[in-house]
Amino acid sequence: MTDIPSIQWFPGHMAKTRRMMKECLPLVDAVIEIVDARIPFSSRNPEMNQLLEGKQRIILLNKCDMADDKVTSMWLNFYQNQGIYAVAADCKTGKNVKKIIPAVQPALKELLDRRKAKGLVGRPIRLMVVGIPNVGKSSFINAMAKAKRTKVEDRPGVTRTKQWVAVDEKTELLDMPGVLWPKFEDPLVGERLAFTGAVKDDVVDIELLAMRLLEYLSGLYPENLTARYKININENNGGLELLEAVGRKRGMLISGGEVDTERAAIMVLDEYRSGKLGKITLELPEKQVQV
Ligand code: G4P
Repeated sequence: MTDIPSIQWFPGHMAKTRRMMKECLPLVDAVIEIVDARIPFSSRNPEMNQLLEGKQRIILLNKCDMADDKVTSMWLNFYQNQGIYAVAADCKTGKNVKKIIPAVQPALKELLDRRKAKGLVGRPIRLMVVGIPNVGKSSFINAMAKAKRTKVEDRPGVTRTKQWVAVDEKTELLDMPGVLWPKFEDPLVGERLAFTGAVKDDVVDIELLAMRLLEYLSGLYPENLTARYKININENNGGLELLEAVGRKRGMLISGGEVDTERAAIMVLDEYRSGKLGKITLELPEKQVQV
């Protein structure tokens, strides 16, 4: 096995974001926590339960167009079994985004019943949208509001100012600014975030990262690798061998016939991130996963 690359984290605005969430929680009825369906565990902040202070939460498994459908169903069952409302969606195309509000209704039944009993009908449902950078918060809000109200940027760590977005007369979203990175204690979490591009490439060793990704994929999705790169895979293949095999197949050679592993690494990561290697999920729900 290739060593796990050490990845620098961005603890930057965590304290500020925590404080802002705390201040804004009384303003909302529930929280939509967006996670990346390809890495549902690593793309969520493990402090979320504590941060939400008992506020109702709905998990949105986003980017499910790039995740393994079978595993996404497993995750949805897993959340359901824990009594957590969850929906899978593709916020880039807007697929299933409309299912989110109906999914929120049962989650908020008690609150809505209470309001009804007090005669407070017609008040919009207010939802806070949280998630780590690049998980698709702006895309979700845009898809819900059907307008380019929030700027979509591919810059991990980018912060925005807090804003309310009216979806319709019944629903309002609070776009949470700031950065909510997961804790970096487990190097595998950082590594998986780097695979998906959530962590900037300039803080990681691209070749090591691609080698590790190929090792994962050769174990979990070997047929995707063979289909794309026409390479033979056996269980003894290490990351470097796999990367060299891919580079050789693509003619990425430098003088002396050696493989240009840096170029090959960039290509592998690019192709994985753009979905060219197929629909892939790197994490299965397990009993020890805290939600
Ligand atoms: P953020 O606010 O949480 O930081 O995330 P944002 O919406 O800016 O989305 C980050 C990137 O992820 C964007 O790509 C966006 O298009 C993409 N994205 C969001 N949701 C989905 C989804 O469900 N499926 C797929 N495949 N991609 C999604 P980008 O490269 O910055 O922009 P572009 O590709 O749209 O040009």
